Amino acid sequence: MQNTSWMPPSVSDSPTIETFILEGMFQASAATGTFTSILNQIVLSSKLITGRVRRAGLADLLGHTGGTNVQGEVVQKLDVIANETLIRQLKRRGHCAGIASEELDHAVIFPEATGNYLVCFDPLDGSSNIDVNISIGTIFALMRFDRSKGPPTEQTFLQKGSDMVAAGYIIYGSSTVIVMTTGQGVHGFTYDPTAGEFFLSHENLRVPERGNTYSINEGNHARWSPQVKAWNQYIKGDGPGRPYGHRYVGTLVADAHRTLLRGGVFVYPEDKKNPDGKLRLLYEAAPMAMIFEAAGGAASTGTRRVLDVEPGELHQRVPLALGSKRDVEDYEAILRGETPVP
Ligand code: AHG
Repeated sequence: MQNTSWMPPSVSDSPTIETFILEGMFQASAATGTFTSILNQIVLSSKLITGRVRRAGLADLLGHTGGTNVQGEVVQKLDVIANETLIRQLKRRGHCAGIASEELDHAVIFPEATGNYLVCFDPLDGSSNIDVNISIGTIFALMRFDRSKGPPTEQTFLQKGSDMVAAGYIIYGSSTVIVMTTGQGVHGFTYDPTAGEFFLSHENLRVPERGNTYSINEGNHARWSPQVKAWNQYIKGDGPGRPYGHRYVGTLVADAHRTLLRGGVFVYPEDKKNPDGKLRLLYEAAPMAMIFEAAGGAASTGTRRVLDVEPGELHQRVPLALGSKRDVEDYEAILRGETPVP
């Protein structure tokens, strides 16, 4: 006899992501057909990528291609598939005028497009985790440009995060979930493979004001600055609400998703090997920063708001501290040499 009052909810009672986009989420933000169409193409891409990720071990899709990308990183077969899928879908309707991808040295402009939106993406974040069956993801951001000033160029992509009009990520985890924002409200949608649809599952996500988990690659400790080491000592030290627990997946999307839902802080700081940090501003740090701020959290380089950083080039890196507002503030305070107020 089960001793519970829990009843399985009917997932299909929730709106699909397409319905939510059309009817509610983006009404306030100039939801033209163009904008909605681009979001729909990203949703379609995520379904196609999910299909490939879920069958990867059976379809000779694990392992690397033998090449390296612009960052000097080994390119995995699924990186190529995810990248091609997004480009093909975004090009299709002519609404997206160009893309910038982690996997490509330069932006790709679609000359026949008529729309005034650009999309930046990391097609498959955490690709070193693919072969060991750990969560991976896709990160994206939409930006606008003024077509009356001529067609876009690579330069047109160099916009601050605060100018982005939408951002999101897709996590291919125990289920596939899309989390998206247009700056007001962050919503999550879970994929139901039997229906082939994403249904609203996390409405109006709010990151807790403070958490009890920190996330950083501790293996880099020897390369950190004395200030980052001081923060690391603090968060692991004894005191009110401390020590924090440690969690680190090594896929930004997975570490960010846990931090968004549970609170706490994710940090990838600058270090001796990566003097500007490791994560890329346009398609990793800035979209995540937009999502976290819209959910009541914060994102900082350690010294300034990530959304205020002007990109100097497409693949620019930036140090990142992302998470609960109070936890990010503590990190900034310690970097300034101050003692946080618990
Ligand atoms: P990529 O998109 O090249 O797979 O990048 C992975 C990123 C990010 O997802 C993660 O937070 C970070 O690299 C992990 O880096 P370390 O292995 O250095 O910890």
